[in-house]
Amino acid sequence: MAKKLVVAIDGPAGAGKSTVAQLAAKELGYTYIDTGAMYRAVAWKALKAGEPLTDEKILTAVADIAVSLRYDGKRTQVFVDGEEVTNEIRTPAISAVVSQVARLGPVREKMVEQQRRMADAGGVLMDGRDIATHVLPNADVKIFLTASLAERAKRRWKEMQEKGYVMTLAELEADIARRDKADSEREISPLVQAPDADLLDTTGMDIAAVVRAIVERCGK
Ligand code: CDP
Ligand code: CDP
Repeated sequence: MAKKLVVAIDGPAGAGKSTVAQLAAKELGYTYIDTGAMYRAVAWKALKAGEPLTDEKILTAVADIAVSLRYDGKRTQVFVDGEEVTNEIRTPAISAVVSQVARLGPVREKMVEQQRRMADAGGVLMDGRDIATHVLPNADVKIFLTASLAERAKRRWKEMQEKGYVMTLAELEADIARRDKADSEREISPLVQAPDADLLDTTGMDIAAVVRAIVERCGK
């Protein structure tokens, strides 16, 4: 039997990470772990304490949070303290504050510890921002997935239209650019391509082609 690999996929917002990682995991028979959903879950809990969001509210929320991911082969269900928040964590309101939450040390420490435990058994494909550089530096396969900002914004805009959110393409592009800047410039575990990661620029590539490229890099 082939060795069960640990696969790390990082990249900016809207690059297609979760979409292609899920499909590649299915093809490989691996578990898919969406680390972005975990930071979104912390943001959701912190926002429950009311706006404006402050570091104090975030730190209080994370102190006793229990985040769990349940992947049913189709999508990742997300639970916070036993409550399902799968759809609630994908709103523009959460996207607008999640980088503020993810920059804090105590939040990252708690999430990273859990992520490492989840990858222990191997046969996992994990996506995020700091997976290859920090969470799983010994991953067998490391991919930095990206696409032009215009294409990433268009992809995400189409998705939000389908979900019924009203926002312009320009607004969405600005939100993604702002989040990428915050994620790349933060002090702790910023978004950066690991020196030993393969760059996969998916501009102009459809989903099937990207999945094929990933599965091939995993030796299948
Ligand atoms: O799906 P999308 O690219 O919009 O974002 P996501 O993967 O759900 O991640 C949401 C946010 O969580 C990112 O903008 C980062 O601020 C943070 N994040 C992180 O800091 N580290 C990770 N490993 C994953 C996400
Ligand atoms: O997880 P990340 O933010 O990197 O991206 P995603 O949420 O997986 O993908 C954003 C949107 O782009 C989704 O609606 C995908 O269906 C779409 N997509 C695409 O059109 N072409 C690709 N090659 C990859 C993703």
